[in-house]
Amino acid sequence: MSDTCQLVINGQPISARIGETLIDAGLGGYVIVPHDCRTGQCETCRVTVESGSVDDQGTADGRTVLACQATVDGDAVITFEEVPAAVKVAGIVTEISKLSPEVIEVAVTLQSPLQYRPGQYVRAKFAGFPAREYSPTCRLNGTFDPNELIFHVRRLPGGLISSQLGATIRPDHRVQVHGPFGHAFLRDGEGPLVLVAGGTGWAPIWSLARAARHEQRHRDVVVIAGSRDPDNLYMRPALNWLIDDGVRDVIATTEIDAARPILPGRPTHYLPSLGLEDTVHVAGPSGLVDAVKRKARTAAARCYADAFLPSVQAPSFVDRVMQMLRTPAGEAADEDVLSPRPRGRLGWVFRPFAGAAIRQEGASGQILRPAQSTGSSARPARRPGERT
Ligand code: FES
Repeated sequence: MSDTCQLVINGQPISARIGETLIDAGLGGYVIVPHDCRTGQCETCRVTVESGSVDDQGTADGRTVLACQATVDGDAVITFEEVPAAVKVAGIVTEISKLSPEVIEVAVTLQSPLQYRPGQYVRAKFAGFPAREYSPTCRLNGTFDPNELIFHVRRLPGGLISSQLGATIRPDHRVQVHGPFGHAFLRDGEGPLVLVAGGTGWAPIWSLARAARHEQRHRDVVVIAGSRDPDNLYMRPALNWLIDDGVRDVIATTEIDAARPILPGRPTHYLPSLGLEDTVHVAGPSGLVDAVKRKARTAAARCYADAFLPSVQAPSFVDRVMQMLRTPAGEAADEDVLSPRPRGRLGWVFRPFAGAAIRQEGASGQILRPAQSTGSSARPARRPGERT
């Protein structure tokens, strides 16, 4: 029996060896399947098996598999969604602003615009520090500049990068950006969008929500954003932007100290009844993401998930030397550097949510919208990064 077979990847026929990964098979035929980690975590390489068969290596989700794990098993036709090619672009930090006690906004101005689809992520390397993954988003007031990337970074005690924002990392700090990557991006579609964020998961969800309101206004949108406490519900200006733009179902939650119009609990408590027509995007802590994925899977709704996990990558020797050269002993983040823009931009005009009646899960169900029919698939997604 021959150990070669024929693959057709996005219409291009190639020869492939039995047992090699779909990514390697594609590269052998000069077809680059979008990918990043190659370890089965980031979901960037998820492809659809249109016909024939592959050995999914445990990554199957409906007709899709991860091309970095799945191996060639015979003749097959494979497709993937076209996304902007990953490139490297240099930039500098131009603003570092405190959005809440725990969340910092970092603006990076690029030498040239980086093409990405809303919801994708990039890898940014601040000079002297290890690379981290961030989801570029737009300003909380809804403005967007293609020459800059806006990141939301949660300040972590002892976080290698986050603890240095405003200290070692200040405006004019050099940054190398590589991307875009990721599978949880906005697609064209007709059905309702259900967008769920926890903490700095708001960054990709806000990018998706704003783009949907600009490009897909025919779609109903439900937005649910949560944080642990009201002080860190930093996305309130963006929620108001959505309300002003006509989104009826905008929900903000906090786990403690919630007071109207903020609702008590977690975003999962206020999920609408999901169905086949819905497309769910969820980003944030893995517990939230896993819970939403389960509910979407149960309802057969399409689900694109972006779980934020703590990064474990330590700085390289060169990075440690660079940090010592850059950081005077004992230097700490400077509040003035953290807040170059006028204070007071967090003010939120409280107003009642205009959506339908809301009930908390566990009481008597969720009635944001009527229940819908079932079908389709949910997808797992995990990638490392200092974005918890
Ligand atoms: S490249 Fe396959 S999951 Fe990341």
